[in-house]
Amino acid sequence: MIEFKNVNVSFKQKKDFFTAVKDVSFTIGTGEIFGIVGSSGAGKSTLLRAINLLQVPTSGEVIIDGKNVEHYKGEELRKLRRNIGMIFQHFNLADNKTVYQNIAFVLKAAGKNKDEIDKRVKELLGFVNLTDKHDAYPSSLSGGQKQRVAIARALANDTKILLCDEPTSALDIETTNSILKLLKEINKKMGITIVIITHELDVVKSTCNKVVVMNQGTVVESGNVYDVFTNPQNRFTQSLIRQTTKFDLPKRVIQDSKGPIIRITYHGNDANNPVLSDASAKFGFRFNILLGKIEYINEIPLGILYIQLIGEGEAINRGIEYLRKNTAKLEVLENVSV
Ligand SMILES: Nc1ncnc2c1ncn2[C@@H]1O[C@H](COP(=O)(O)OP(=O)(O)OP(=O)(O)O)[C@@H](O)[C@H]1O
Ligand SMILES: [Mg+2]
Repeated sequence: MIEFKNVNVSFKQKKDFFTAVKDVSFTIGTGEIFGIVGSSGAGKSTLLRAINLLQVPTSGEVIIDGKNVEHYKGEELRKLRRNIGMIFQHFNLADNKTVYQNIAFVLKAAGKNKDEIDKRVKELLGFVNLTDKHDAYPSSLSGGQKQRVAIARALANDTKILLCDEPTSALDIETTNSILKLLKEINKKMGITIVIITHELDVVKSTCNKVVVMNQGTVVESGNVYDVFTNPQNRFTQSLIRQTTKFDLPKRVIQDSKGPIIRITYHGNDANNPVLSDASAKFGFRFNILLGKIEYINEIPLGILYIQLIGEGEAINRGIEYLRKNTAKLEVLENVSV
């Protein structure tokens, strides 16, 4: 478990201090895939670096397995650091070393002998599916392959926590998906806690189970990924999510509509209930489905439907009330001339 307790990080500027991380408190449970999102300069990387003491907090505590990381000393601290792997947007591989040597290097630094190193590197290369790139130099690899080498290196020393700072930001969608799949597999098979910083909300949606949203050094929202994405409380989170999950009707459709248009949100298994046709039969209005989608957030379905309602005012009003009660969320869109 990683706990942040009132963590502050300030940097000295010419005359005064700039506080990059302000009074941050939250907990990352063992075995979670935890997302940290927020705009550029929000303090995400600074906070991540505080986990392995690459950045010492100005005040507050980062506690791993019940102990403040600043109290780890000597061999204990070296072991803690070895058990925390890190990967980055630009992979940070040594260009003058082969794939094999890049991974062997960290095992050597941890005091492993030649045979142990050889066995472990081969095992890791097999796991990340790069056995055939054993003797290749990073310059001859694709971005996805480079990130796989970096992941193998980060897992080399009995890793318990994997920190990922924008791990897919330099990759195309297909490669991103394959790296995310690999990270999920690592989490599941090895029980490794994974922390992912990203500006791509799709990465959080598909991969993480918990998330914190940072803005200007503070945590403005945190919780289960599904809850935060389907019902964001903070205005910054709401606008962040709206930007990436844009799913609106063209304004013209709303303006030209002959009846009210509603937007219904279904959560989880609600999507299986035929509430719309029930309401239509019960109250005697007709409907026209304009637009719909289902997406999966942390493996749970979320459905959105835009529907035009046609019929008598009273039937429509009673229908809307019924649907409001029997779906997760119902909004009546404005600018409609009924
Ligand atoms: N070593 C440093 N010295 C001075 N200021 C720093 C230092 N490291 C970070 N900062 C400042 O702290 C703020 C937060 O930086 P940080 O790198 O943590 O942001 P971020 O959320 O990771 O942003 P990005 O998404 O662009 O990577 C920024 O304003 C940055 O300029
Ligand atoms: Mg950063």
